[in-house]
Amino acid sequence: MKFLSGILTSGMAILMLACNSGPSTEELSKPLTLAYQVPDTAQIPNGEEGEMIRYGRNLILNFPEYLGPEGSVGAYAGNKLNCSNCHLEGGTRPNGLNFFSSHARYPQFRAREGKILNLAERINNCIERPLNGKPIPLDSKEMNAMLSYMKWVSTGVETGKRVPGDDLPEIPLPTRPANPEKGALVYQKHCQRCHAQNGEGVLDSMGKKYLYPPLWGKSSYQPGSSMHRLIKHAAFVYGNMPYDIAKPGKPVLTPEEAFDVAAFVNDDRIHPRPYVDLSTSYPLIHHKPADFPIGPFDDPYPAEQHKFGPFGEIIEWQKKHRSAGK
Ligand code: HEC
Ligand code: HEC
Repeated sequence: MKFLSGILTSGMAILMLACNSGPSTEELSKPLTLAYQVPDTAQIPNGEEGEMIRYGRNLILNFPEYLGPEGSVGAYAGNKLNCSNCHLEGGTRPNGLNFFSSHARYPQFRAREGKILNLAERINNCIERPLNGKPIPLDSKEMNAMLSYMKWVSTGVETGKRVPGDDLPEIPLPTRPANPEKGALVYQKHCQRCHAQNGEGVLDSMGKKYLYPPLWGKSSYQPGSSMHRLIKHAAFVYGNMPYDIAKPGKPVLTPEEAFDVAAFVNDDRIHPRPYVDLSTSYPLIHHKPADFPIGPFDDPYPAEQHKFGPFGEIIEWQKKHRSAGK
C-alpha cells in the first residue's frame, strides 16, 4: 500500500492556516515542494532480497514482538516502544522521522558519539536509546533486514543527498522560554485522550505493543534520546500530532504550543524517565546542540536555557563562534 504520496509540505498548509495563525510573509513565500515518493510495497521484489526487505519492514512496524523485552528472537530492547511509534508509517511519512534518505546519508559523523557511525550502528543507537536496550549484532539477520528495508525506502536517492520532506518540519523558534505550565494545558486539550493522563500510553489488549506510546515514565524514552531534546520534540509534534488530525504540512498546534507541550512532557522535575549515563554524550563540547541541557558548554548560556530556550540566540552564537575544524 502506498502512504501519502506526493504530499505538499509547509507552503500549502501555511496558506490554509492563514486566517487564524497569521504567518509571516517569509513563510507565505516558501515554495511548494513535493515530498519524495517511497516506492509502493507492491513493488518489493520476490526472492531472497524481497524477503529481507519485507522482514525488515515488519521489524520496524513490530519491533517488540521480535526484539522487545519478551521478543521471539531475543530480548534486546528494554521497553516496548516500536520504531514506527516515532518513525511514523514505518519511516515513510513526510516530516515524520522517515527513512527517505537515511541509507544514502550514512556513514556520517555523529556529534553525540564524536565519531563516524554507519547506518547499522545508528540503528543500534535507537535500540540503546530510546528503546533502553542493548545493541543487536551488526551481522544479524535482523540488522541486515532493517538495512535492506531502509535501502529500499531510499531507492533512487543519490549518495549523500537529502530529499524533500526527509527532515522534521521547520518550526519557528519562540523568542521566550518554553513554558511547562502552559504545556500542561496543551497536553490536557490535545494529547491526553490518546497518551493517557500520566503520559503512560495505552498497550494493546495482549500487552504486546502500544496503541498509544508512552511519553514519560519508566516505559518511555530515556534522557539524551533525540526525542528528549526540545527542538526535535517540538518539531515532531508540530508536524505530526495530534496524530489523527495533524497531517504533513498541516499543523494543528501553533509553534508556541508545540514548544510548551514539549517542555511539559520533557520536564525532568515532574516526569521521571529510566536512568542513563549522559557523561559520555558529546565528547566534543563544541558539538553540543543548542537544546542539549547537560553542561559543560562552550557558550555563555545557562543549562536552563539549553533546556527550555529561547534557542534562537544560542544557535546564533554557535554559528558565529564554532568554526569548522575547531
Ligand atoms: C522515541 C522515538 C524513537 C523511537 C522509538 C525510535 N527512534 Fe530512531 N530516531 C528518533 C529520533 C528523534 C531520531 C533523530 C532524527 C533527527 O536527528 O532528526 C532518530 C534517528 C534514527 C535513525 C537515523 C535517521 C537518519 O536519517 O539520520 C535511524 C536509522 C533510526 N532512528 C532507526 C530506528 C529504529 C530501527 C528504531 C527501532 C528499533 C528506532 N529508530 C526507534 C526517534 C526514535
Ligand atoms: C489521536 C491520538 C493521539 C493524539 C491526540 C496525540 N497522539 Fe501522539 N501518538 C499517537 C500515536 C498512535 C503515536 C504512534 C504512532 C504509530 O505508532 O504509528 C503517537 C506518537 C507520539 C510520539 C512519539 C512516540 C513516543 O512515545 O515518544 C510523541 C512524542 C507524541 N506522540 C506526542 C504527542 C503530543 C505532545 C500530543 C499532543 C499535542 C499527541 N502526541 C497527541 C496518537 C496520538
